Amino acid sequence: MSYYSQELVEEIRSRSDIVDVVSGYVRLQRKGSNYVGVCPFHNDRNPSMSVNQPRQMYHCFSCGAGGDVFKFVMEYENLTFPEAVKVLADRAGIELPERDSSPEAKRQSDLKEQILEMNRLAAKYYYYMLRQPDGRQGLEYLKGRELSDDTIRRFGLGCSSKRGSDLYRYLKSKGYSDGLLKESGLVQADEKRGMYDKFWNRVMFPIMDARSRVIGFGGRVMGDAKPKYLNSPETKVFDKSRNLYGLHLARVSRKPNMILCEGYMDVIAMHQAGFNQAVASLGTAFTQQQSVILKRYTDEVLLTYDSDEAGIRAAMRAIPILKEAGLRAKVINMEPYKDPDEFIKALGAEEFQKRIDGAESSFFFELRVLERQYDFREPESKTAFFRELSKKLLEFEAGIERNNYIEAAAARYHLTYDQLMGMVSRTGEQLGDVRRQTPSENPFGEPKKRRQKEDAGLKSQRLLITWMSSDERLYRSIARYVSPEEFTDELCRKAAVLLAGQMETGRLNPAALFRQFEEGEEQQRAAAMFNDTIPTLRSREEEEKALQETILRVKQNSIAWQTEHMDPGDMDALRAIVQKRREIEKLHISLD
Ligand code: CTP
Ligand code: MN
Repeated sequence: MSYYSQELVEEIRSRSDIVDVVSGYVRLQRKGSNYVGVCPFHNDRNPSMSVNQPRQMYHCFSCGAGGDVFKFVMEYENLTFPEAVKVLADRAGIELPERDSSPEAKRQSDLKEQILEMNRLAAKYYYYMLRQPDGRQGLEYLKGRELSDDTIRRFGLGCSSKRGSDLYRYLKSKGYSDGLLKESGLVQADEKRGMYDKFWNRVMFPIMDARSRVIGFGGRVMGDAKPKYLNSPETKVFDKSRNLYGLHLARVSRKPNMILCEGYMDVIAMHQAGFNQAVASLGTAFTQQQSVILKRYTDEVLLTYDSDEAGIRAAMRAIPILKEAGLRAKVINMEPYKDPDEFIKALGAEEFQKRIDGAESSFFFELRVLERQYDFREPESKTAFFRELSKKLLEFEAGIERNNYIEAAAARYHLTYDQLMGMVSRTGEQLGDVRRQTPSENPFGEPKKRRQKEDAGLKSQRLLITWMSSDERLYRSIARYVSPEEFTDELCRKAAVLLAGQMETGRLNPAALFRQFEEGEEQQRAAAMFNDTIPTLRSREEEEKALQETILRVKQNSIAWQTEHMDPGDMDALRAIVQKRREIEKLHISLD
């Protein structure tokens, strides 16, 4: 992971003030000693992200995102750590040494960079071609599909020439070898023809990743020939299951949902009509990895698959994948049109917005599809249908949500709530439904009172870490009374150990500790602790009192923990605990 030395990383950090850097992306407002802004990592209009200048950390109180300046750039630009280091080094005008990675790793990353560069050149070339006499037909085709110049520019649309090896010769002139060119997927080779372009006489759709780098292409014939689309093969930079067409634009759309369509043309038509949250999979079925990517940007996905049988089947496959990733799914009805492109052309954006507003929850969409497989005039078939319906209802966790769906489904099939609820319960019993049990009924759950007490202990530990990381004077006052081992919470203990290490060798710099926590939840919790604001206390007495109480609570919590985890026969341990208890009683905590 660490391509660069710790000193270099710290040098870059010290010249990348977090307030300056974040201000480049988000409008920040000063609020006391903090800055606040609208968090770019979840959909929000209210300023819920705070940026703390003394501690060089940010934290969002709403979605929990948080970290140091490197983390911010990683998250916002969708970069790896070394990539974020590079971005910030460039910004600060610091020269980076060659990365000392293994020759093989270096060869692979060079190869990736070279393919990306070839793709970029190819996209520019196709785009240029569209304005040449040779590209006239392509431009007319796109205009005929009612795409504006602005849309053509925004999506970088182009066309490939009628001759079969123009791009090959162009890239060759840029110095790329045949071997590299084959790796790019842009050219192919066979014995008869030698090297030739993969795409010719097609309008070209560059496919970009979330960072707007060209990773592949789709090419469409300008008439009815087959195949309608040709796509780049998978390469070192093009993974069809992990990218989405239009994501680089949709991810910054700030819309409350994402719209998933089937085709490139659909995405483009939607964006042109103002629905810039539209994306599509890449000529393959929607994947689990794609749903995880979408979940990073939204909680709700609207499906606009074609309204034919194939489209319905594709939607039925996509819905469980979306739900698995924790996304709400809805289906947009485009009748009587086939796809969003046609719909918008015929009825316009306003009507499409109405369809978005009226999108059907995936549950009812699935029901309608299910209904078609049963004959309600046949009693047996009808019973089988209700059994399937009950199973679907059992997929919702017991509680308000399931009840709401039972109520709505009962209305749909002219049953009373109790009738349908009865069927669901019976089906649940037959299936041995375990989800019916709510946590409070769980005989193995922890007693509530004990949990509350633990939470209070945890809160004090966190608060103490916030204090200790906030300034060196406070750190010294606290460290005189509390040692790192007295933190029973693992994360707090780790933070205390790391802070102690820093104080020993130099000065307090919590942002520099951030990377020592594990990616994901640990980092989020650490960021929250380091970034929390200390409640403003009016006087020194108040501060002293709050501190005393917190220190005492942490120490008492530590003793309680030791008592609980002690071997009952260990007399020495018992004696030590009793001794500590006495010490605490006599302890006089002062801030000086
Ligand atoms: N597709 C493909 N290869 C094909 C046909 C389709 O890769 N031979 C993929 C493309 O990604 C395409 C999507 O499936 O965008 C949906 O196909 P379709 O609905 O036929 O294409 P549209 O995008 O609607 O294109 P158009 O409106 O130009 O027909
Ligand atoms: Mn279409």
